[in-house]
Amino acid sequence: MVNILVIGSGGREHALSWKLSQSSKINKVFTAPGNGGTENNIPIPVDDLDALASFAQKNDCFTVVGPEAPLAAGIVDKFNQMNLRIFGPSKNAAQLESSKIWAKNFMKRNDIPTARFEIFDDPKKAHDYVKSLSYNVVVKADGLAAGKGVIVCNSTEEAISAINTILVKKTFGDAGNRIIIEERIDGIEASYIALSDGNIAIPMASSQDHKRIFDDDKGPNTGGMGAYSPTPVINEILAKKIQEKIINTTIDAMKEEKTVFKGFLYAGIMIRDDQPYVLEYNVRMGDPECQPITMRMDFDLYEYLVASVDGTLSSMPAPLWKNQSAVCLVLASNGYPESYPNNEEITGFDLIPENVYVFHAGTKNQDGRILSNGGRVLGVTALGDTLASAISNAYAAAEKISWPHKYCRTDIGKKGLPHL
Ligand code: AMP
Ligand code: GLY
Repeated sequence: MVNILVIGSGGREHALSWKLSQSSKINKVFTAPGNGGTENNIPIPVDDLDALASFAQKNDCFTVVGPEAPLAAGIVDKFNQMNLRIFGPSKNAAQLESSKIWAKNFMKRNDIPTARFEIFDDPKKAHDYVKSLSYNVVVKADGLAAGKGVIVCNSTEEAISAINTILVKKTFGDAGNRIIIEERIDGIEASYIALSDGNIAIPMASSQDHKRIFDDDKGPNTGGMGAYSPTPVINEILAKKIQEKIINTTIDAMKEEKTVFKGFLYAGIMIRDDQPYVLEYNVRMGDPECQPITMRMDFDLYEYLVASVDGTLSSMPAPLWKNQSAVCLVLASNGYPESYPNNEEITGFDLIPENVYVFHAGTKNQDGRILSNGGRVLGVTALGDTLASAISNAYAAAEKISWPHKYCRTDIGKKGLPHL
């Protein structure tokens, strides 16, 4: 029996370790550094690749990477050189997420549908360009900026100010040495996540995130305030289009270009006039999308992750999904995504019913007390026979949980209802 090392400390990593610990093939699941809900926490930060590798080696671990930063830093290449088993893409393949410019050029040369764009490093040229356009744009920093390097603009003035924020003021540091200016596509956003072994990709369940902090998608962007799965905005016809035109084309082209992609491939999709466009790639599970998706898995996730690493996904049966909806409400600390207090005691876990699981994110366990320790604190995730019942189950459970600065959107999942 093998041990697992899950790397990361968010709700996504709690969901992955929760699901993997159900496998009959697993002995023990460690999480580094983990949070107040994960078991067997190992106090190694996600950027200490040497310490993570030596822990995995000593404890005979199959390693599963949650967040993008260690992937972009080359953790998979390092582990492979040491003959350690690890799930996720190589550093080169992770460029799909770590460099937005790399990803846009990749999509362009492979005819993958995405917003038209230009690349700039000179603010003056960028200003002249946006002044010449007759449509609204989105300005994006090239590198990783913790989900904040994207500015959606409503006018030329806003576009000029966004260019200055990234290229002149360097608000995102070196991640903003170059920018993409792309057409703003107005439509419906959804997440499509597939699992690849480098040769083929099998779809995970569809989902929809809620990125803004306030109800009705108002206010600043966050890491995600809630998600549900499956989402009716991706119907069967659209799913087939996304799988063929976007996911399969990406996996084939990555192989062709010698940047074989293994791992979770997440396409952030905008749907306009029934056509899907890629807004961004992520090279990992989404957070919070991972929480409702894992709740619906009726298969041994470990076996599929092994098949991804070994290149044997085509010999696996199609994964089975619970024929139910799952909704994850993110309970945050009031003030997120800016400043918020930590170290507030959270109560009510003992009142949570059976069809609900509370994944921890920004929490820590101090002598048996659970304290808030981050902006996104918990992901209350409920199953239901319909989307509407999963929503009400999740909100009923979330009411049982309290701490002084608890905050949560009141409309998670509702934007799916009119599409049913
Ligand atoms: P990204 O990190 O590239 O996904 O961008 C963050 C958010 O900005 C997305 O989730 C969208 O809501 C929005 N966005 C990004 N690109 C576009 C675009 N071309 N058109 C409209 N909205 C966009
Ligand atoms: N929920 C969006 C992301 O994981 O990037």
